[in-house]
Amino acid sequence: MSWLYVLSVFLHVLAATFWIGGMLFLAGVVMPALRRDPGRLSILERLGRYFEYVGMGALAILLLTGLMSLTFRGVVLPGQLWTSPVGRMGLLKLGIFSVVVLLSFWHNRGIGRQALQLLREAPGNREGERLQKWSRWIGRLVLLLSLVLLYLGILLARGITLW
Ligand code: HEM
Repeated sequence: MSWLYVLSVFLHVLAATFWIGGMLFLAGVVMPALRRDPGRLSILERLGRYFEYVGMGALAILLLTGLMSLTFRGVVLPGQLWTSPVGRMGLLKLGIFSVVVLLSFWHNRGIGRQALQLLREAPGNREGERLQKWSRWIGRLVLLLSLVLLYLGILLARGITLW
């Protein structure tokens, strides 16, 4: 087995740990810890901005190393993405991954940022609270889809394909 393949899987798992671990840490530790903090909104905005940059870096590494693993597993040409079982699993991962990236952008740049701004300017603002609720659900969906990608990765690494 090539050392490049091992390095690529190592980076893939490390980036997955960072991406999913970061989201779980934010939702399970940071949010509850700041619940009654008066400066909560501006802290969350700053944390969100930092996590957005490093999170996008982690997603870029996941894409690059995921594609490398596919080539090491024999999926070299785009056409093999639908003609081989490993290729189809890779295609499924790529499809879900694209949704994760789009939803994360929408969450970070659009709806989430807008909600925080409105609530910081006027606490209790109706529109701000509505957007905040939506942005929470989008965040949960991103986490759920990322966990599906993790699960598919575990299947792939063990030679299990869905069809
Ligand atoms: C949020 C995004 C992703 C997460 C959390 C994720 C997670 C993982 C994890 C944890 C593994 C290793 C499982 C193990 O060794 O037991 C894995 C394997 C794998 N992933 Fe991903 N992945 C993501 C995105 C992608 C993308 C975009 C692709 C394809 C372009 C991809 C293709 C693969 C492949 C081919 C393997 C098998 C590696 C091997 O050869 O052993 N992944 N994934």
